[in-house]
Amino acid sequence: MPHILVVDDEPGVRESLRMLLKSDFDVTPVGDVDAALAALDEHPVDAVLLDLVMPGRTGLDFLRELTERSEPPPVLVLSATRTVATAVEAMKLGAADFVTKPFEIDALRIKLRHILERRALEQEVERLRDQVAGRSRLGRLIGGSEVMRSVYRTIERVAESRSTVLITGESGTGKELVARAIHDLGPRRDERYVVVNCAAIPDTLMESELFGHERGAFTGATDRRVGKFEAAHGGTIFLDEIGELAAPVQAKLLRALQDRTIERLGSTQPIPVDVRVLAATNRDLEREVAAGRFRADLYYRVHVVPITLPPLRARREDVKLLAEAFVERTRGESGRGPQRLAPDAIAALERYAWPGNVRELENAIERAMTLGAGEAIEVGDLPDEIQLASRSESLHDAVRSGHLDLEGAVARLEGELIREALARTEANQTRAAEMLGITRRLLKLKMDRHGIAATSDEAYGE
Ligand SMILES: Nc1ncnc2c1ncn2[C@@H]1O[C@H](COP(=O)(O)OP(=O)(O)OP(=O)(O)O)[C@@H](O)[C@H]1O
Ligand SMILES: [Mg+2]
Repeated sequence: MPHILVVDDEPGVRESLRMLLKSDFDVTPVGDVDAALAALDEHPVDAVLLDLVMPGRTGLDFLRELTERSEPPPVLVLSATRTVATAVEAMKLGAADFVTKPFEIDALRIKLRHILERRALEQEVERLRDQVAGRSRLGRLIGGSEVMRSVYRTIERVAESRSTVLITGESGTGKELVARAIHDLGPRRDERYVVVNCAAIPDTLMESELFGHERGAFTGATDRRVGKFEAAHGGTIFLDEIGELAAPVQAKLLRALQDRTIERLGSTQPIPVDVRVLAATNRDLEREVAAGRFRADLYYRVHVVPITLPPLRARREDVKLLAEAFVERTRGESGRGPQRLAPDAIAALERYAWPGNVRELENAIERAMTLGAGEAIEVGDLPDEIQLASRSESLHDAVRSGHLDLEGAVARLEGELIREALARTEANQTRAAEMLGITRRLLKLKMDRHGIAATSDEAYGE
């Protein structure tokens, strides 16, 4: 049954609404705005019936608060006839509809049904749009490539459990997003999610950061401090850049993971902690183990479920989806900038090797959005290295970075030289062939192979 929140300061109205609606709806009646907001925090609500005039914070205050929230439920305003002006104000604040008091119960039911149906439709449209865009239930993760789909499946499977997950991948591949998605999809989603960046904290402070300390545990420990493990009790701890941990801290961490208890510095009292551990690194931990820089036993403790994020150049079909999503997002935030990417720009993005992965793409688009003056982002709006990579001068770079093989590079260079010769001879094939030092017949053959039309100017345009 749809869940309806009834907000009215008059107990009589609340009770009669509850009685009238209870056969079709699951009704929660509350008497003021604070209770209404608390109820929203507690439970998802499908619609709100809202009285406008209440002592203390009014219905309008509630609507204003609601606009701050993501995916607010639709609101049906109950207004006394003398406050029609306020009802208009309420509509401006996003109320879905209003009924005037005293209300006809049938009219109210119909309106309620109507806004619920509309909401269901909107959600369905949103879901389909997400599906088309390759987005999933996985938070902000975008990408429809087969490798990413397989990552999504692992995330969904592992979210339910308490298994430790080790997320690896090059810098900027989305390790933090994956960790967050695992937490958000799991049974601990409403508990705390605590992030520790192991690279950002000096070795000497790391232990106290993770496990806390008692007052006087070391010089400067003037107060007792609760560590991140304790803070995450009941929830999830994300150990980002775990490969950077110094040896002594690795030993302590191993003990915490094995015993599920921790000790604050300066204390011998074990404290049980119930935390789900997620870890990430862009290092090759196996190699770190072989080199003696990372404890093998700790490695096996965290390497229970591995998730490896592919570099962006290994899933070029996601480049367009990601780029378009970033354009949309930046426009949503700033309300300005180009609305789309020109086909040439997309091609250039798809060809580039992305050493900085999704983060680099995100930055490139954000930059292009501020630089781009036209309706579309053009190649010229992209960072130099991408423009360069899209031209033949850097064919050897493309080969070196592994996104073109020798044969592909030679073919592309050949195509480009032929187009250039044709452009310079105004599509005169005899002269173009001469220029290239081949016969006209061979030129024709190669033009066919490269899909270069005989007379169309466009074919030379690249
Ligand atoms: N699949 C994705 N969909 C949408 N955004 C992504 C995706 N992957 C990464 N991003 C974005 O790229 C940026 C970098 O991602 P993130 O911080 O998760 O990378 P990381 O793997 O932790 O990198 P590092 O090793 O450098 O810390 C973030 O702004 C993130 O939102
Ligand atoms: Mg990171």
